[in-house]
Amino acid sequence: MEPNFTNGLTKELRGRSIFLIGMMGSGKSSTGPIIAEILKYKYVDLDLLIEKLTKKSIDKIFSDEGEEYFRDLETQCLQEVIKLPSVVVSTGGGVVLKKENWGILRQGIIVWLDINKEIAINRLNSKENIRPLLNGNIGIKYEEIFETRKDIYAQADLIVKINNEGVKNVAEKILKDLKKRLIIN
Ligand code: S3P
Repeated sequence: MEPNFTNGLTKELRGRSIFLIGMMGSGKSSTGPIIAEILKYKYVDLDLLIEKLTKKSIDKIFSDEGEEYFRDLETQCLQEVIKLPSVVVSTGGGVVLKKENWGILRQGIIVWLDINKEIAINRLNSKENIRPLLNGNIGIKYEEIFETRKDIYAQADLIVKINNEGVKNVAEKILKDLKKRLIIN
């Protein structure tokens, strides 16, 4: 059953897809499926889609073919995903780098999971690192990447500040903010 705070939200969205953007470790992949389930939307994790299509891990794509090749795959997958209505898409953190991708993202609603930097770095440090761009000192790499991207992320339709909340609470926060935003517009 749809929770009270999302009453009518799916209808209000009129099939527009929702793109979750943000830094690595911000929780896009864990929050996305919850939001999709509540909205009765389909769900796509862009990185997983790339891995499925290429039958290679992201790490392996980076090491075998390089970042540019990966970015092209990312755009191609995005072009396919936007053809479907009503999808929650968890994107990879670098999807915002290509101008071309923004033309696609803007067809849906873009939500930035603006996670506290220290919390994200702690999370990423506590897991085995599978992110090629964070090889070496995760904290330093994270800071460098965030500095180059923060103004780009800020162009999202909706910015949701995230601290240490659990995924369900983050999903709830996103949906509440989305509802407020849709009612105002
Ligand atoms: C990247 C983030 C990763 C993945 C790739 C590049 C980035 O996805 O797409 O390693 O450039 O920030 P997550 O944001 O899901 O970790």
